[in-house]
Amino acid sequence: MELWKTRKFAKAINKVNGTRFQICHEKMGRPSRLAILLLTDDPSSHGYAHMQKKSFTKHGVDVSLVHYPADIPADTVYEDVIKWIEWADGVFLHRPLHKHLDYKKVLGMIPYTKDIEGLKEASIGGLVLKRYNVIPATAWSAALIPMFYGVTLAGKKAVVIGRSPTVGMPLSILLTHMNATVSTVHSKTPDITEYTKMADIVFVSVGRPRFLKGDMIKEGAYVVDIGIHYIGDEIVGDVDAYSIEGKAAAYTPVPGGVGTLTTALIVSSFLRLLEKHVC
Ligand SMILES: NC(=O)c1ccc[n+]([C@@H]2O[C@H](COP(=O)([O-])OP(=O)(O)OC[C@H]3O[C@@H](n4cnc5c(N)ncnc54)[C@H](OP(=O)(O)O)[C@@H]3O)[C@@H](O)[C@H]2O)c1
Repeated sequence: MELWKTRKFAKAINKVNGTRFQICHEKMGRPSRLAILLLTDDPSSHGYAHMQKKSFTKHGVDVSLVHYPADIPADTVYEDVIKWIEWADGVFLHRPLHKHLDYKKVLGMIPYTKDIEGLKEASIGGLVLKRYNVIPATAWSAALIPMFYGVTLAGKKAVVIGRSPTVGMPLSILLTHMNATVSTVHSKTPDITEYTKMADIVFVSVGRPRFLKGDMIKEGAYVVDIGIHYIGDEIVGDVDAYSIEGKAAAYTPVPGGVGTLTTALIVSSFLRLLEKHVC
């Protein structure tokens, strides 16, 4: 089984991004500003946010990690968040939010010109119409990896497990644009294996550790694992990597696959917005 690692691609993208930031910051006469909104105490979000901060700071971006604990009243949080959004050139909003906060309300406060996740209606609408603004980075990463390893999607049968607006749904749209024939399966699909067994390539964004097993895929299938789970000291994906060994033709490892490339692509998304609207 070939391992579709992405470090070298992420490195190449980071190199180009470094030059783009230099040009942009010079034109702006100041560093660009990113606000990472952590309206949560979720440890995974905090871990991910600190990693994000590192990846942007090394490009000279002025990053603010904006965290509010659960006991701050909603109105106070919203008032403050508006100020951070005004300050920033780009915003990343971590999910899940504290229970007393409204995700849609906060997303609604972010103008699409600062939405580096590409989750606003304008970006998602553009994605459907092939007028790409910012493509949700995880979906983008998953769709690019097979191509980076020389596997064309055109004409292939693809299955996407999961239909979240952030990952599964944009991914299904992207793959369709790449001329794959796509089945999107989810929690209401009676027999997922019926679809996965027929697929040339399976994308797994189900949010359940080691969900996809070897007996659910056909011999020689490609498997793209989007999941990330922290189990004790271990990081595992949505795929049971051991059970697909010897059956799949290729697999994106966790860690070192989709997530690694996603981190580089989020930086590219921020740059795209800066170059379009600020510098
Ligand atoms: N690599 C990265 O950079 C990155 C970034 C973001 C997320 N992730 C990971 O990607 C995974 C998915 O994230 P997400 O935000 O899309 O999760 P999500 O919002 O929880 O969505 C999960 C999707 O899986 C479906 N599903 C759940 N249980 C199922 C089952 N037993 N059978 C079939 N379908 C089922 C759900 O169906 P319904 O719609 O019917 O509920 C839903 O569409 C997670 O593991 C997350 O950690 C990775």
